[in-house]
Parts: sequence; structure tokens; C-alpha cells
Amino acid sequence: MKISELISKGLEYLGKERFLEVIVLLEKVSCLKKEKILSSYDLELLPSIENKFFKLVEKRNKNYPLQYILGKTEFWSREFKIRKGVFIPRPETELIVEKIVDFAKGKSLTIADIGTGCGNIVISLALELPESKFFATDISSLAIEVAKENARIHGVENRITFLKGNLFEPFKKLSLKKSFDIICSNPPYIPKEDMDSIPEEVSRFEPKRALFSGRDGLKFTKKFVKLAPLYLKENGRIYIEIGDGKEKEVLSLLKGWSIKEVYKDLSQKPRVLMGEL
Ligand SMILES: C[S@@+](CC[C@H](N)C(=O)[O-])C[C@H]1O[C@@H](n2cnc3c(N)ncnc32)[C@H](O)[C@@H]1O
Repeated sequence: MKISELISKGLEYLGKERFLEVIVLLEKVSCLKKEKILSSYDLELLPSIENKFFKLVEKRNKNYPLQYILGKTEFWSREFKIRKGVFIPRPETELIVEKIVDFAKGKSLTIADIGTGCGNIVISLALELPESKFFATDISSLAIEVAKENARIHGVENRITFLKGNLFEPFKKLSLKKSFDIICSNPPYIPKEDMDSIPEEVSRFEPKRALFSGRDGLKFTKKFVKLAPLYLKENGRIYIEIGDGKEKEVLSLLKGWSIKEVYKDLSQKPRVLMGEL
């Protein structure tokens, strides 16, 4: 089949608004660059490539996330490997990186990322803050494996210690109490009862442990805020991403902290909270 015919068939299945996705899927199966595909509509592709293309279109049609199909995603303008079983980074999480970089630029700090996923936050920070050192934990061994791979690809594997475990548990074992200037997290924060109201693409294919956190979505966040002071140095800071409408509840958890700030995301929703001890 010609490229033009494959594109038409792909659009028939997925809908005209997904033109770019169709091109990206063709790129994946043919190993041709986007520009070549768009300028060679009459080129005939091999039947084996056609088959692979239709398999991917079918997967995508069932809402299987594009990032899992491609095995990669973008965060903070860099490419990260991603695999099914590991949370797909979202653009709004770049706000945590932005705020920490603003504060930490030029300083030599010790920074931890709890629930690191594919390592997108901690690796972006390590690349922006060359004088600092980093630790990251995740309860998922697959996430830690992918994060280590991403750290290698970005050349920061020697500056980040990745540890598998529940919240701060791995730090306890390494006697890392009162060791950190900053601890950040983009935690699971969707209330379990919202499971049916979020897009199927998310609820069906992304790891539940990365999405949901108790009935109110705050189970992880409450533990994080309670335990972080044990691991922070004097005047240490936390940066934590919050779910929609959770600003007041999370701020109330920070009662007694000396400084609190709320940062809004691009759609003007409170998205990241900073607390200083
Ligand atoms: C919303 S994802 C965030 C991933 C990544 N930091 C990001 O911003 O894209 C939450 C992550 O927390 C991890 N996680 C969930 N519960 C945890 C726990 N109790 N201890 C450590 N990590 C946990 C999940 O495996 C998942 O990777």
C-alpha cells in the first residue's frame, strides 16, 4: 500500500484530528523520518510494515497510550524512555522542576525525589543543578529500572542514588535523617472514588499505584508531609504536586511550617505547594 493510503486508513480508524499520531505511528513502523513520510505519499511500503502499522493503529484505537507504543515521552524538553507499568510524565509537573531550579541554581544542595517514576523530575534537576547531589525512591522496581536507564542515557547516573522502597524507608536504612535541603514529589493523588470519571486511557493502562491514593487522594501526601521533616535539614523545603481542589487541605497539613507557597500551573490551577520548615 502507498503511504497516502495507509494515512487515509489510519485516519478512518482514529479520526481526522489524530493526523499527527498517524504520522508518528508510521514513523515508528517504517523507520522513515516524518519529513520523508510527508513528502513521499506515493511510496509503497512493504506488507510487513503495513501489518505492523495496522496493529499499532488498532492498539491506539483501544486507547492504549501513544507514549507506551513509542516507548518514549518528552519532559522538560528532553526525551525519556517509558514502559507500560511506569507512570507517563505530565507537562504540569514541569512546574516542580522550574520552582526548584529557580531556588537552587548555583547552590550545592542534597535533593530527594519520592515516587520518581521514570526519573523525569530528578534527572531534569540533576541536569540543571550540576553542583547538587540527588536521591530518588519508588515503590515500583520497574520504575527504578527505567529511571536508572534514563539517568544513564542523560549521563547523570553517578549523581543520583536510586532506591526501591516505600516513601522514605530506604533513607532510614541508609541513616539519611536530617540530610536533605529539598524533598520533592509528584505523588499519586486521584481519589479512588474518581476511578470511573477519569479517561480510560489513564485508568485502564497506567499503574494504579501511581494514580490513586486512598478515598480522598491524600493518603500518600499526608504521610509524605508528616515524615519529610525527619529527613529535612533545618530550613529544608518540600515541593509537592497537588490534585485539583486540594490546595486548602494540603496547606492545612503544613500548619507549623514557617513558609508556605502555592504555585499555579498554566491553566491557573494551584498545582505545586512549597513548605519550608
Ligand atoms: C504520579 S507518579 C509520578 C512519577 C514521576 N515522579 C512523575 O512526576 O512523572 C507517582 C509515583 O509514585 C510511586 N509511588 C506510589 N506509592 C509509593 C510509595 N508508597 N512509596 C514510593 N513510591 C510510591 C509510583 O510507583 C509512581 O511512580
